[in-house]
Amino acid sequence: MDRTNFRAEVRIFPDAEATCAALAAALAELAAPCLTSGSRLCLALSGGTTPRRLYQRLAGAYHDRLPWNRLHFFFGDDRFVPHEDTTSNYRMAREALFDAAPIPQGNIHPMPTFFQDPAAGAAEYEATLREHFHGPWPRFDVMLQGLGTEGHTASLFPHSPALRQHDRWVLAVETPATPSRRLTVTLPVLNHAARVWFLVTGSDKAEIVARVLGGDADPEECPAAGVCPEHGELVFWLDEAAAAALPENQPRSSAPATP
Ligand code: 6PG
Repeated sequence: MDRTNFRAEVRIFPDAEATCAALAAALAELAAPCLTSGSRLCLALSGGTTPRRLYQRLAGAYHDRLPWNRLHFFFGDDRFVPHEDTTSNYRMAREALFDAAPIPQGNIHPMPTFFQDPAAGAAEYEATLREHFHGPWPRFDVMLQGLGTEGHTASLFPHSPALRQHDRWVLAVETPATPSRRLTVTLPVLNHAARVWFLVTGSDKAEIVARVLGGDADPEECPAAGVCPEHGELVFWLDEAAAAALPENQPRSSAPATP
């Protein structure tokens, strides 16, 4: 896909806390109509360390302000470890969000990591997604993504064969990270979402953020550069530290009034 004219929206905030506060407020605004319309919102969560504070904020400041029974929580990737393993993305989200907010258990859709064969777990999750989304591709309302310092997102790493997979929704992959075995959605799933929101903070991400937003990175080398939703929005939620290598004239967003 030609990215030359694709422009991601960049929102920059003073620090990680303000960035999470702004993203939480935007999620709450997006979810508000569900209170009256009866519609539901399907979110795909990312793992790693960055989003923990966001999840804690949603469960705390928004505990009584979100239509939790209308929100469904999926995952964009997970490590292929037991859900009680300390490296599990599901465990992180359970501790920070699911155990702290009134979310119906049936609205939480963890990736199955209990199979002997990771490929069976991938197939199972793809079947789960196909139960929730009809049509050729799932259309998540929001896919929350992180960004690795070498350009990976979800568990799509540079030069991975998964990057050339255009039919499957979910794959089992071997990665250079620890734990190495993972389940991940594929690029087409990301590129069919209504919104892809990258949450990236910290000075260690400044170089890769500039590379991804530069518009000429090769997705084979920098998979996050392959995320450009065909009919959806792409927003980078950054703190100043992660935005430090962007051009001086990069517009900055103001932090929202915290609830
Ligand atoms: C994972 C994530 C991964 C993460 C990036 C950034 O399973 O690790 O889904 O894609 O978002 O590695 O991780 P940090 O937030 O820890 O920097």
